[in-house]
Amino acid sequence: MTLPSPPSLGIDFGTTTSLVAFGRPVDDPRGVKPTVIPVDHDEAGAPLDALPTLLYFPSTKKLVIGEAAREQLGLRPDRVVRRLKQLLGRFPRVAVAGRAYATTDLAAAVFRRLKRAADAHLGARVRDVVVTVPASFDATRRRALLDALSATGFAVRANTLLDEPVAALAAYLHGRTSRRLAARGGSGPASRSERDGIDFSAERTVLLLDVGGGTSDACVARVRPEGDGLAVELLALSRFTPVGGDDFDACVARGLIQRFAERSGLDLDSMPKGDRLLFQHRMILTAERAKRDLSSPPADGVEPVAHIRQMFLHGTHHLLETIDRARYAELVSELLADPRASASGPSPPPGAPLSVLDAPWDALRKAGLGPSDLDAVLLAGGMALVPAVVDAVRALFDREPLVVPFPLTAIVAGAVVQAFALAGGRPGLRPAAAIAAESIGVRTAGGGFHRLIGAGTPLPARVVERGAFALPHGWGRYVRIPIAEGDEARPDRCRSLATLALRFPRRLPADSRVTLEAALDENKVLSLRGFLDADPSISAEARLTVGAEEQPPMDTDEHR
Ligand SMILES: Nc1ncnc2c1ncn2[C@@H]1O[C@H](COP(=O)(O)OP(=O)(O)OP(=O)(O)O)[C@@H](O)[C@H]1O
Ligand SMILES: [Mg+2]
Repeated sequence: MTLPSPPSLGIDFGTTTSLVAFGRPVDDPRGVKPTVIPVDHDEAGAPLDALPTLLYFPSTKKLVIGEAAREQLGLRPDRVVRRLKQLLGRFPRVAVAGRAYATTDLAAAVFRRLKRAADAHLGARVRDVVVTVPASFDATRRRALLDALSATGFAVRANTLLDEPVAALAAYLHGRTSRRLAARGGSGPASRSERDGIDFSAERTVLLLDVGGGTSDACVARVRPEGDGLAVELLALSRFTPVGGDDFDACVARGLIQRFAERSGLDLDSMPKGDRLLFQHRMILTAERAKRDLSSPPADGVEPVAHIRQMFLHGTHHLLETIDRARYAELVSELLADPRASASGPSPPPGAPLSVLDAPWDALRKAGLGPSDLDAVLLAGGMALVPAVVDAVRALFDREPLVVPFPLTAIVAGAVVQAFALAGGRPGLRPAAAIAAESIGVRTAGGGFHRLIGAGTPLPARVVERGAFALPHGWGRYVRIPIAEGDEARPDRCRSLATLALRFPRRLPADSRVTLEAALDENKVLSLRGFLDADPSISAEARLTVGAEEQPPMDTDEHR
């Protein structure tokens, strides 16, 4: 007798679009077949797989999520929350039309929408889920995401979160075998790996870059044959690079607005704020459409062009413009800058634009490799469809990158493969064990950085620093520990994450020494314990909490 197995569920919570997919066991070597669940519908009522991660508040009591919220972007942008994923864990609240909403509540509303669609589709309440996050999302952001998932009714387990590029790599490798590629002269269908030319009969080193709407994220991994299947070992993950499709759209919109201003003589700075916001959003939507038009494959060998027809708000001025791929690449060139120029240089000035290529270069450097050590460069995410991105990756690595099949759904498919493996299934692939993306440690006096857990350390990890701190006289009960992450060789570039407070049960004697124990779990959430060296029974624990430090709410019109 075989018992029905619960379906494996995966969620890709994206900056621009979110997806939910499931998989049930199948009777072939793949073990599971991920399938995306429709969560939304278009104006005509046709089902849509992707849920735009946009939240529209028609009133303070009503919330609309998805495609219907997108329609409001060009009408009531002040009432639409965009880029929620980028706010979560950084801004406790967001203000819409004068009212503040907790970002974890908004994320929970998105997860509830996805969960409801999944439960209805599957006819069961599924509590276990794997949710993808940018590889280098810091502990605070992860904590916020996990809080939102628990509030939705999902179970939070050790491996609930999965790094996005690792998920995309798992989806790509899922169903591929270690069988040697051979010219088989028509004896049976070629496997998928034969079609795309990667032979996994021996160990291969691959880099995968996921470029989405808000983040560029990379992993470097070794893929080894293991029986008939494959095993993945992660070598490195990139640092956080919040640059993606939204930045391309904003950049092109700025170029178009400038052109508009030159032609019409309009002074946008003197416009009422509401009008300016509306105009900017319309230009961003226009830029996004142009990007899609330019990414479609050449028809009859003729490369596509994008026609811009934009009317000023009140219909008095028009912008008519045609953009080809070369012009587009020129407009977004700063977002595709070669990272080699800045890698060894001084700190980039604050606010300097990031490049999509920073992530893969950082991961490659952390793996201690160069471009010629790689056997393949894979691309995933919606921006993998943009020719300017593919061209820039080709130029950096001096090889043809391979866009994974279904680049927009590969990440959620990888989450399903991971969920299936965690539930004890055999997907023909041994998924990678999590590693730390960045070194994590303590900010020391004078801007230094004391590393606790190094980049690339397999997780869960625990370190104990005996007598780490000598407490000055009169310290009291609290020990505040400023946590930072980054490259220990470049303390000036380390990012402060949070200050964790160890609250001891009583006042500590002067000149006490405290031992620090830091743990990073598989979800990459950090916790600290402090012990008094003289009496280890006196200890205090600190966990990362979200929204502990008061910040003003983020306003919806502070868009980029
Ligand atoms: N057919 C297409 N042509 C060009 N660009 C596209 C296409 N489809 C999607 N995109 C772009 O890809 C981006 C969205 O990609 P994706 O869905 O992978 O991102 P996300 O998961 O929402 O964001 P992130 O992973 O950064 O959090 C958007 O900027 C979108 O404009
Ligand atoms: Mg994504």
